[in-house]
Amino acid sequence: MEKPEIIEDLGRDTVLCALSDIEDPGSKGFRVGRRERLFVVRKGDDVFAYMNLCPHQGVTLDWKPDAFLTSEAEYILCAVHGALFEIEDGMCVYGPCLGRSLAPIEVRIEDGNIMLDS
Ligand code: FES
Repeated sequence: MEKPEIIEDLGRDTVLCALSDIEDPGSKGFRVGRRERLFVVRKGDDVFAYMNLCPHQGVTLDWKPDAFLTSEAEYILCAVHGALFEIEDGMCVYGPCLGRSLAPIEVRIEDGNIMLDS
């Protein structure tokens, strides 16, 4: 699998990408310095970010780069065993980790860019 390029970790000054770089709705994976992998889901002008680790078995969710959503972009999908997670809060609503949730990452939009907030 193609790996996302590693972005320099500048803490709260870290720019992940422009909001317009992600389809609406859409998703994109990132690697920032030595942090765990993460991904961002865009819905309109809102963004939601999580660690790319499934609470079921601790593996990455995407089966190909930047593919974190179901075909209708209604849920986040773990491609390993098909768990579905709410986009807005990362809660698993179907699958083997029902009731557990993805670990959220704080992000913000500033000047049209998606930035880490921690
Ligand atoms: S590892 Fe994600 S559903 Fe099993």
